[in-house]
Amino acid sequence: MTTRESVLEIVQVTKQYRVGSSPVFALRGVSLSVSRGEFLAIAGPSGSGKTTLLNLVGGIEQPSSGAVRLNGVELQHLSGDVLADVRARHTGFVFQSFNLLPVLTALENVEFPLLTHRLSSEQRRRQAQEALDRVGLLSHAAHKPMELSGGQRQRVAIARAIVTRPAIVLADEPTANLDQATGAQILQLMRNLNRALGTTCVFSTHDHNILRLAERLVHLSDGVIVDAP
Ligand SMILES: Nc1ncnc2c1ncn2[C@@H]1O[C@H](COP(=O)(O)OP(=O)(O)OP(=O)(O)O)[C@@H](O)[C@H]1O
Ligand SMILES: [Mg+2]
Repeated sequence: MTTRESVLEIVQVTKQYRVGSSPVFALRGVSLSVSRGEFLAIAGPSGSGKTTLLNLVGGIEQPSSGAVRLNGVELQHLSGDVLADVRARHTGFVFQSFNLLPVLTALENVEFPLLTHRLSSEQRRRQAQEALDRVGLLSHAAHKPMELSGGQRQRVAIARAIVTRPAIVLADEPTANLDQATGAQILQLMRNLNRALGTTCVFSTHDHNILRLAERLVHLSDGVIVDAP
């Protein structure tokens, strides 16, 4: 049996929030290993910890205990600028509400994450055009987000997530604001990019219709990974 190199190791991670004087346990000891090139879905009901888990992997939040190793970097020891730098270099994000900058064109939105990378402006432009082409929207490069449909906005957001050629793309309910057919198309696009570029992808959802497209499925329930129901 061949084992693929792991790009993400989550070891006994807990996350506890405090609301007033009472603790809220969002994650209660989650361990997960993700191989390079995987297309993995995190499923689970509302409040089960999906967003929290993705935010820990993306370096948006820090675990209360345990370890998160991304591309060989231990995230739980990092903070501030160093963590932001790791985030910019190793991860791409796709959000439920697209989060495009309204004043920028589609192409400028895709180019945005490259501003912190040491590249010439021509290289940046070329890389952004290539990413926009990959999602089939080069023809819409000059459109502002308001001038795009929901599905097109999410495709721009996907181009923005892959433009830095990250080790992992994290997508938190990427289809939740789309109708079912468009959502399935978005997931299929992510799956095609995963195959074509070998980009590891972890997405969360509670939509059973798009879970079929996952290569592997992890179920979260009340902050722990449970066996598939
Ligand atoms: N900043 C916070 N402060 C306090 N509690 C929080 C915070 N963020 C999340 N929680 C709590 O942690 C638990 C997990 O939340 P999380 O957002 O990860 O769930 P989820 O699976 O993404 O849910 P949904 O499907 O509704 O997006 C919930 O009980 C939530 O109320
Ligand atoms: Mg969530």
